[in-house]
Amino acid sequence: MAALLEIEGLGKRIATDEAGGLRTLFHGLSAVIREPASIAVMGASGQGKSTLLRMLACLETIDEGDVRLNGQSFRQSDIREWRMDVSYVAQQAVMLPGTVDFNLRTVSRLHGATYEERLASELMERCGLGGMPGAKQATELSGGEKQRLALVRSLLLRPQVLLLDEVTASLDEENSRYVEELLLERHRSEGTTLIWVTHQPEQAHRVAPVHWTLAGGRITESGVAR
Ligand SMILES: Nc1ncnc2c1ncn2[C@@H]1O[C@H](COP(=O)(O)OP(=O)(O)OP(=O)(O)O)[C@@H](O)[C@H]1O
Ligand SMILES: [Mg+2]
Repeated sequence: MAALLEIEGLGKRIATDEAGGLRTLFHGLSAVIREPASIAVMGASGQGKSTLLRMLACLETIDEGDVRLNGQSFRQSDIREWRMDVSYVAQQAVMLPGTVDFNLRTVSRLHGATYEERLASELMERCGLGGMPGAKQATELSGGEKQRLALVRSLLLRPQVLLLDEVTASLDEENSRYVEELLLERHRSEGTTLIWVTHQPEQAHRVAPVHWTLAGGRITESGVAR
């Protein structure tokens, strides 16, 4: 059976100046996720964690190597469907101009997915946003509120793989735990694969039995006994 997600020989070169200078961020990066999993991605600032996640979601160009979901390369896939199946939750949440309700509905509509109103309110509640008025302007939310609203938008797409870029970084301890529990529950009940970028080793240990460390352009995988 094909693996859930295969990362094969990924390379990324990034601009160093406006004159077209390039440097290699990583080269020949490979990893495989055989079945639904929860994986923490660690590594120093600037090692390319966000870039890697954005490449997996096809939000950043992939010039070298391949990514396959259930055996199918992104090159043979419909990009809109791919981004629904492999959904990126950004480090800096971006809101669409408009209300909270508009933000929740529009992302589903843009992806051609049915808007599940009951699921939306349940997810909002479980993220600690139960009291948030749907008519509030999304751009006026705090950083932590935007981050959770962006997470709910992604969860509504029922992705196979959820790419979580420091998803609790703007949250207090209590709300971080709500979000962790909600995501782990989606992993158990829906089989959603979770890939968490985090700078907190304690969080990595709480949420993921497998850790990827990104350093010097390589992924080192380690398993943690639970
Ligand atoms: N579009 C881009 N153009 C030029 N350089 C970029 C671009 N995107 C990222 N970089 C550079 O690539 C490197 C990796 O960035 P990235 O944001 O992926 O790191 P990170 O591991 O997520 O860091 P952090 O932990 O601080 O979030 C950095 O040096 C960054 O400046
Ligand atoms: Mg980052």
